[in-house]
Amino acid sequence: RQAIIMQSTPSTQGEVQQLADGGVSEGAVVLAEEQTNGRGRYGRRWYSPPGKGIWMSILLRPQQSLRNTPQLTLLTGLAVCRAIRSFTGVDAGIKWPNDVLVNGRKICGILMESALEDHELRYCIAGIGVNVNFDKQDYPEELSPIATSLQIETGKTVDRTLLAAAILTELEQLYDMYQKQGFNVIAALWEALSVSLHRDIKVSNAHGIVEGTALGIDSSGALIVQKKDGERITVFSGEISL
Ligand code: BTN
Repeated sequence: RQAIIMQSTPSTQGEVQQLADGGVSEGAVVLAEEQTNGRGRYGRRWYSPPGKGIWMSILLRPQQSLRNTPQLTLLTGLAVCRAIRSFTGVDAGIKWPNDVLVNGRKICGILMESALEDHELRYCIAGIGVNVNFDKQDYPEELSPIATSLQIETGKTVDRTLLAAAILTELEQLYDMYQKQGFNVIAALWEALSVSLHRDIKVSNAHGIVEGTALGIDSSGALIVQKKDGERITVFSGEISL
């Protein structure tokens, strides 16, 4: 299985895209010390300075159809959350769909991108950014209230190589389970680590803002929200605030 470690790249997502278009097989992974144009969800930038984090992208070629990419999004967040918990002992949780939080601050973000051809899914690229060895002064001012790192949370530097290996192992096991047993078992593990369920949340997406209580996720990975007036709605994408 192909693994490439780079000193610097605009984005590991672009690197994996090139490999994927060249026909490389599933599981190929690119890691970079630094990204000069790291990308986040909704066209945001992802701050990726040298040596401070795990910036990596993984190629997936799921057998299931395109409908299932939201499930893979949740699966990837779950893998990172479980690896962080077992490797560092930090009490990490998942905010729907796939931000990993510690003490209410973001420690990992995931960007799932898919390539289509004739409405068929060709591949997905799971981009994972974990804030590992930042200290408080390392963050730009706008990030410090919302972001944290494993070093800040544990008071120690954390070995990025071993943590990256733990994430990939966890991802491989969950992905295998998903291919063999389907999404239900993943959904149950996800719900157990979710910090967004059974509490009042606000969801914002292209349709506007909805307030309510998050009840759970359905079999497609969408979030089920009960609004104040009792109506239940299904949210397929968006961002939530707790
Ligand atoms: C988000 O929370 O907005 C998602 C952030 C995803 C960041 C990772 S770092 C590795 C990969 N390469 C990128 O350019 N982005 C993802």
